[in-house]
Parts: sequence; C-alpha cells; structure tokens
Amino acid sequence: MFKMGKVIVIVGGQFGDEAKGKFVDFLAEKADLIARYNGGNNAGHTVIVKDDVFKFHLIPSGIIHKDKVNIIGNGTVIDPKVLVSEIESLEEKGYKISDKHLVIGQNAHIIQAKHIEEDSATGGKIGTTSRGIGPCYKDKIARTGIRVIDYVKEDNRYSRKIRPLVKNTSFIINQFIENKKNILLEGAQGTLLDIDHGTYPFVTSSNPTAGGACTGLGIGPTKIDSVTAIMKSYITRVGNGPLVTELGTEEQTKREDGINDLKETLGKEGLDHLKRKITLKANEGDEYNQGRLMRFNGKEYGTTTGRPRRTGWFDVLIARYSARINGLSAVVMTKLDVLDDFKKIKICVGYEYKGKKTTEFTNNSEVLSKCKPIYEEVDGWLEDISKVKDFKELPKNARKYVERIEELIKVPISIVSVGPERSQTMILRKEFLF
Ligand code: GDP
Ligand code: IMO
Ligand code: MG
Repeated sequence: MFKMGKVIVIVGGQFGDEAKGKFVDFLAEKADLIARYNGGNNAGHTVIVKDDVFKFHLIPSGIIHKDKVNIIGNGTVIDPKVLVSEIESLEEKGYKISDKHLVIGQNAHIIQAKHIEEDSATGGKIGTTSRGIGPCYKDKIARTGIRVIDYVKEDNRYSRKIRPLVKNTSFIINQFIENKKNILLEGAQGTLLDIDHGTYPFVTSSNPTAGGACTGLGIGPTKIDSVTAIMKSYITRVGNGPLVTELGTEEQTKREDGINDLKETLGKEGLDHLKRKITLKANEGDEYNQGRLMRFNGKEYGTTTGRPRRTGWFDVLIARYSARINGLSAVVMTKLDVLDDFKKIKICVGYEYKGKKTTEFTNNSEVLSKCKPIYEEVDGWLEDISKVKDFKELPKNARKYVERIEELIKVPISIVSVGPERSQTMILRKEFLF
C-alpha cells in the first residue's frame, strides 16, 4: 500500500525543558524534514546518543541523522555567532553541513548586539535568558529589524558561513508536503511561555504553541495531521512567574548550587550521601526536599544558563489547558524515572482561589500567584525503572500513575520515557508516530 506522509507538530506542554530535544531526535529517524518554528537560542535541547552528548540551541536535533533536511524557519530569531558556532561544532564532530542538511529561513530576524544589551539590562524582572530574544522580536514587530536576507548581504565571517544556507523555507516545506514526505515541526519553549496564551508577562516573546508552526513556517493548518505535546511526569520552570505546584520557594531554589559545583565540592560519595539525606527528608513530607529530589534526580539545571530549575508536582489543569490551546492528539510523558525514590506522589487536580475550588486553569498571573494546589495522592513504586523496556513490565504503581494522568488529562499518552537515551523509550500507541 502507498504510504501517505505525515506532518507532526511537537510542542512543549508545560514551561519548556520537557525533553523535546530527545523526542525530536527520536521521531526524526522516520522523518524526511525537521523544522523549528519559533524562538532563538533561549532554547537549550540536550540529546544523548550512546556516549555522545549534543546540546542544541538553534539547529533542530534532527541534524544528528545525517540524511535529513533541517530547517530554521521564518518565525525564529537568529544570533549569527551562535548559529555559526553550532554549525562548526557539528563539523568538528564529522557532520557535513550544506544546504542539503540545514536551511535558514530568509525572513527570520537577526539578534543584534544591542538586543542582547537591552535584554541583559531589562530582562531581570521576567528572568529571561538574556539572549536578546524579546528586544529582537520587538524590532521585528515594529518593522525596524534586520532579516537574515538583509544580513547575508553584509560581508563578515558569520554572514559568509550562513549565506549558502539561506532560502525560501516555506516553499521547501510545502514541496515536501506535496510529495507526501514525513515532516516534523518543532516548537521551542513551552505552551505556558507563549506570548499570547502563557502566563504573561512571565513568558517568552514568540508562539511556542501549535499555531506558531503555521505562522512560523508558512504552512496552512489543514496540512497538519497531529500535535503531540511533551510533558514531564512532574513540572519545572526556569525564570520568574507563578508555579502553583512549586515545592519549596523560588528563593530556596535560587540559593542552591548547580549540580556541577556540587559534584566538584562533594565528589561521588558526598553526592550519594546528599541524595540519601534529601530522599529521607522528602519522604518525611518536607516539600522543599521533595522539589530538591526532583531537581537532583532529573538534573534540572538549565542547558542554556545552568540555573537550577524550580520544580513541582504534575499539574493536570495546565495539561488540560495545553490540550485545549494546542488541540493535542497525544502526550509523550518524559522523566518518569525521576519519581523512582518517592514513597508518595501527588497530582494536582484543582486550585483553591479565594476559598473556592476551581478545576479550570487561568493564565492570569496575578490570580495564579494566589492559587493553592489541591492534590490527589498516589503510592510511589520505589524501584529503579530506568532499564524497563516495555510498559507492561513497569511496577504496578508506575503504570497506575501514568494511567491515572491519562484519564485526568483526557489525552492519550503515546510514549513514556525513563531516561535520556533513545533506548529508554516505551511506545504505548503507534498511531501518533510516523
Ligand atoms: P528540551 O528543552 O525540551 O529539549 O529539554 P532539555 O534538553 O532542556 O531538558 C531535558 C533533559 O532531560 C535533558 O538533559 C535530557 O537528556 C534529559 N532527559 C530526557 N528524557 C529523559 C528521561 O526520560 N529521564 C531522565 N532522567 N532524563 C531525561
Ligand atoms: P526550551 O526550548 C525553559 C524562559 C526564561 C524566562 C522566559 C523569557 O529549552 O524548552 P526569554 O529569554 O525567552 O525572553 O525568557 O522564558 N525560557 C525558557 N524556559 N526552556 C526554554 O526553552 C526557555 N526559553 C525561554 O527562563 O522565564
Ligand atoms: Mg531546554
């Protein structure tokens, strides 16, 4: 039978860092073209393939598969220095980067030095990544920005390197669609960081949500077959803004050392001892240490800035909101292994606001900051699940946790991930894959 190509959108279902990079790499195996549609080098995606660790900020992680076309679309903002350094570090690893592998949208906007300066001076209130993202989008909207097509007319080391890769990417993607190819569209950041639908003003300056794939790449909504959100089995947030299920306070988290500093000062034995101490306190019910245990097990320190990420229990209201805004077909649940050490696990099923219970999410930051979580508690599994290959082989309580969340969010869970490697991935439903 003739197989039709599919167009699949991958979005972050929470506040970013849900492990989109791993899944773009995982799904890219069967894709012909992979395209990034929003954001810039505020994103940080880590992909682990055997002993190799790849960190991408701009280039889609599909680039690791050598025979695919990767696109950075018109909806993105590009810091030429960062793009060229990413290309060069791939070249050093033996990847050949030509316009057969990587194409840059000619209408994408260029992040200039003044944008980075402005962001560094004013981004503190939001807790931005200081990469010049907001100021660059501001100039784009004011029609005073510099586009890639203008930038490559300049003559410097970066423009010379980028020039051969610049094309009309909307035309290329639509050609692939017409030729029934498999296409993966990758959103950076996450739904709750969306400029229009996130927790404004604590958001990024683009549209990470599924609609952004159409505007950011120049394809019609009728061409999209399915939308999958990546969500962690808990939740994290970097930067400022409300996080209803947060464990411990923002200040407590910010005071902590990065994991690399800890490794250096404590060594392996010291680190093991610290983990035992944190686990003990977490299982005695101490909230800050519960959040700390998630951060520790999940290595929740930013890829872009190294900042400790704020952590909290899975929030069903956010997941349902994400399902609505993105029209989700499926959810990939990542990092289930991070919950291995918890005796009891909580799921947020409602908020209490001014003494009343609500089960509907609001993106009103002021209201959110006053909401208290209402939890359902389930038993943990207290086993290492990182080597389990089949969903049926998971401990009963781990299966029950995933199934309970699926029931609450009312979206099928297609994949469960129990580690950063490609092999640590269980497929539950094939219909949402290529
Ligand atoms: P992205 O921004 O959404 O691509 O996510 P990041 O790469 O910033 O953060 C996800 C981190 O979790 C990366 O370091 C991944 O290697 C790692 N990771 C991915 N999936 C899993 C998983 O199932 N379990 C664990 N423990 N780590 C994972
Ligand atoms: P990936 O693609 C998590 C957050 C910043 C800040 C806010 C605005 O790796 O999931 P910006 O620099 O965009 O103006 O900052 O958005 N933020 C992210 N948080 N993951 C990301 O990307 C993020 N990109 C931006 O921390 O709160
Ligand atoms: Mg990230």
